[in-house]
Formats: sequence, C-alpha cells, structure tokens
Amino acid sequence: MCGIVGYIGKNKKAKDVVIKGLERLEYRGYDSAGIAFVDNNKLIIQKEKGRISNLKNVVDFNNKANVAIGHTRWATHGIPNKDNAHPHRCGKITIVHNGIIENYMELKKELENVGYVFKSETDTEVACALLDYLYKKNNENIKNTIKQFQKLTKGAYALGMLCDDDLNSLYAIKKNSPLIIGTNNNENYIASDVPAILDFTNKYIVLDDGEFAKITSDSINVYNKNGNMVNKEIKTFDGSAEDINKNRYDHYMLKEIHEQPEVTKKMIDAYIDNENNSFISDMPDLSKYKNITIVACGSAMHAGLIGKSLIEEYGNIQVNVETASEFRYKKLFIDKDTLVIAISQSGETADTLEAVKIANDSGCDTLGIINVNGSSIARNTSKVLYTKAGPEIAVATTKAYSAQVTLLSFIAYNLAKNSKDINEIKEIQKFLTDLNKLPILMQKILDNEEEYRQIAGSIYNNNDIFFIGRGIDYALCMEGSLKLKEISYIHSEAYPAGELKHGTISLIENGTPVIGIVTDKKIADKTISNIKEVKSRGANVIYVTTDNLVKDGDFYDTKVTIPKTNTLLQPLLTIIPLQLIAYHVAKLNNCDIDKPKNLAKSVTVE
Ligand code: F6R
Repeated sequence: MCGIVGYIGKNKKAKDVVIKGLERLEYRGYDSAGIAFVDNNKLIIQKEKGRISNLKNVVDFNNKANVAIGHTRWATHGIPNKDNAHPHRCGKITIVHNGIIENYMELKKELENVGYVFKSETDTEVACALLDYLYKKNNENIKNTIKQFQKLTKGAYALGMLCDDDLNSLYAIKKNSPLIIGTNNNENYIASDVPAILDFTNKYIVLDDGEFAKITSDSINVYNKNGNMVNKEIKTFDGSAEDINKNRYDHYMLKEIHEQPEVTKKMIDAYIDNENNSFISDMPDLSKYKNITIVACGSAMHAGLIGKSLIEEYGNIQVNVETASEFRYKKLFIDKDTLVIAISQSGETADTLEAVKIANDSGCDTLGIINVNGSSIARNTSKVLYTKAGPEIAVATTKAYSAQVTLLSFIAYNLAKNSKDINEIKEIQKFLTDLNKLPILMQKILDNEEEYRQIAGSIYNNNDIFFIGRGIDYALCMEGSLKLKEISYIHSEAYPAGELKHGTISLIENGTPVIGIVTDKKIADKTISNIKEVKSRGANVIYVTTDNLVKDGDFYDTKVTIPKTNTLLQPLLTIIPLQLIAYHVAKLNNCDIDKPKNLAKSVTVE
C-alpha cells in the first residue's frame, strides 16, 4: 500500500519528477500525499489531503530543487489528513514510509519517555523519531543509525529518507515492502514500483530485505544489514511508459480489459511451442503431488477457484483453495506431498506472502503464479511462473486475473496431457488449436461492447445485483460480482445456483437483476431451473450462455451469447462480458473507476 518516489540528480527539477512518479503510483493509495524537497539547502515539506492533484495545486513548480522524496498514502494508522500524511520530520530526519511498523506502540512509549512528542497517529512518525534518536545516539553516523533502526523495528517498511546534514544524499531502507532504485546518467531514483520511474528510465535495482542504500546523483551504494557493501544487478524493465498510459481509453480498466487478447497471445508465445505441441518453458510436472493448496486473495483467489475446477477435472489432483488471510490462522493439513500455489498479480500481498512462508516452513514445495517480476512472493516461492499481463494500473484487476486463469489452464492441460486417459478426453486433444483461436474469440466479445453497455443501462439504478451459476460458472459469478461491487459500490452477491432456495431467494423482488451464467452442457438444465425460480419471482434475468447451448424459453429478459470454446478455456471468454457490464454500470454511476473508494492496488498490510 502507499507509494514512494524519490529523485536526486543534476538534470531535472526534483519536484516535477516526484510528482509525476506519484501520479504513476497513485493506484497504490490515494487518500493524501506529500513531498519534501531541498530548496537553497533548506528542507521544505508540503502535504495535502486527497489526490495528488490537490498536492500539485500547492507545490511551487519553479523551484529547481534537485533532491526530493514524495508519498501517496492509503491510510492504515489514523485518518487521511495533513498531519498523518507523509513525509514526516523529526530533528534532522525526514522520511516517507510504506508498510507497517508493528511494534510502534512500544517504541512510541520509550521515545515519549525520553521527551519525544508526537503530532500524528502514525507509525511512520514513530519511525522518524526513532531514526532521529538513534542518529543523535550514534554521533550522527547514519550507517550505524540505520543498522540499529533495523534491529529495533518489527514489521514491514520501505523508507525514503533525507538527513539535514547531507542533503546531497538520499537514503533507501527496505524490509518486507517493495523498494527499487532507478538509475540513469547522473540521476537516480527510488520508488515502490518501476512504473513510477518509467517516464525517466527503465534501469533499476531491486533492494532485498534488510538492505539499505546511500544514493547521490552519481552513485548508488547498497549495504546489507551488517553494513557491508553488496554488488547489485542493474535490471532492465521489459516495457515502456507507453504501456502505462491510458492511450485512447477513458479508463485504465477499460484499456486493460481490451488488452486481454494481446496478453493471451503473449502467454501463448511465452509458454507454448506450437510446432512441437508442447510447453517451451520448463512447466513443472505436478503429477508427483498428492494434493494442491492454492493460497490467494480477492480476484486472485477467484482465479484459484477456476484452477481448482480445471485441475481436479483434468489433472485428477485434489485442490483446496484457501483465502490467504484465513490459511495463516487455521490448522493445516499440508506436507511434502502438497504443492502450495500462491497466485498474486502484485506479488506483494502481505497475507499471500505470509501464507507462502508458512508453506515453506511446513516443508511444502511452493509455486508462484505472479505478474510482477522479482516481487516478494516471486522471491519466496520455490518456482515461479510469470503471467505476462504487463503493468496493471486500474485497481480492479482484469487482464492479470485472466492471465492467472490462462496459466492455471496450462497447468491442468499439462497434467492431463501426461495422463493415460488422454485419448478419452477430446478437450485435451484439441487444447492447443483452441488456445490459438482464443485471442480472436476474445476480440469478438470485446467488439460487442455496446451490447454490454446497454445491459449496464438496464441495471445501474438497482441497489442489489445477484450472480448465479454452478461449478466453474459459480467461480466466474464470484469474480463478476466482486468486479461490479468494488467499482460501482452496488451491493452484489454471487450464489451457487442450487443454493438460492435455501435463503437468498427471499431477496428477489420485482426487477432485481440476476445474472445467470450457463456454459456447461452437463448442468445447464439444472441451472436453468434455478433461473426459472428467480424469474417467476420477478427477477430481471440476464442470461449469459454459449452459442452451442440451444436452450431457450421465457426464463430470461436479456440474453448474452458468447462463443463456445474448449472447456479448459471457456472461463476466459465468459468473464469478459461480466467485466464490461461492471465497468459500464460504474461509469453510468459516475464512479471513480480506476481508483475506487477505500481501495488500493497492492495490499501490503495484513
Ligand atoms: C479485485 C482485486 C483484488 C486483488 C487482491 C489480490 O479486483 O484486484 O481483489 O485480486 O487484492 O491482489 P494480488 O493479486 O496483487 O495478490
């Protein structure tokens, strides 16, 4: 959560760079923002409640400062206001912080006992005071200060720091929260994520846990927790600022929905050798595991539910899907025969990361399905398969979700392909042919956007919207419902179609929208019976089905027909109308689609 940017260099105005970087990182948090910059050897701090645009209005852009640090916040300790916003300053130390200092209450008491007074409710102000205290105690030796700070603090932090005694240096300190250092000729940067600096450079260094760095305009010295200098690889980001622009779209979310055919092509190129009908990359053989546990949060967990259906059906391995925040606190039945798969777009979700650590400690192999290269979860799993979705900026995930589902279908296919029943499973035999056709079919659905906009027009005024389906369609209902509620703030629930009559059906009134999904021939009649139950109670039924299922009647008000494809790939088509309906419902309600209230893109708190 929260975003950090810092700049030190001879060529640019530091404030411009930091504000631009913060705008790029706004998806990480957007309830307050602030900047500290050096003007005539004096440090100036400006903060504002609300969006970066509010901060931009108060910052003087004529200033030629060549050092600055900035922050965009998603409140964890204390409400969003100017006092709680970063940067925080104490004595000669000024910091911006991402993460949570878990023992800040104990530290605060000790610091109060030696005379420190606090203005904000934040753990960050405590961290700043601690750094100031240690700086004085260590005869103003900054390296020793940082080393001791790391020993005394528990939790997660990525810190950008300035010290009044040396305003030609910028410090970066990292533990359990992401922090990178960008570099270019005579200019260096710090940031929570590469997109923040992509307008200026695509060369970067990833700081590891426990490391800290002293950065000037022409040098970067990285130290480990013992204070010894370490050599770091300079990486090149595979992408450009163009990839993180909205281009012709009104919102990032819409752009990212439309990028799904291209992402699927990238996944095919990365993983499939079409000539040899096999996987290019070293797709792991999972057949040795007795069972699989998938840990993830939110939409990534919903992708996991699709994976469960596919792997159990085609790979014949039992799969449990666990919400990562629950997995951490329950009795576990995992051992060396269990593979734990962690799914995460950001690779930084705190609960998923902790679940991975528990799985590692339990002796399990862990496999990450991750979008962000080199992220914390990627570094903590025994093996990583990267989704090739590229940077995803909208808070509500779309293309990364479908890339996760694509990889899970590859895993299911790989298991099935090596099984002895292969000749009996037609779906498996033609998987690669169908996969190659998928981007075109996705595009066909995207071309029908007007149809989904009209459906949105018929339901956007309602207070409740339900989704029902069975099996894999129920997993899709969960994702469709989450998409809708998180961006439009309309109450929505997803139900297994057969479960309605055990309670929820009492909520159906005249005109209540119910989106019923029916893509599986085997259970189509059962779900249609459930749809009829809601229809006869007055529901406004939107029936989503495939073109091979000729099931008609007076049980729906609107029908959405999508192309039939391989059963292993069908969810990748079915989800698109649901994403577009959610998008247009939110748009018609004038919601802030890319930055829904109270949310942030990457959830690095537990
Ligand atoms: C919903 C959404 C969230 C994320 C969840 C996990 O649109 O984006 O539910 O899926 O916070 O995030 P990652 O995948 O980064 O671990």
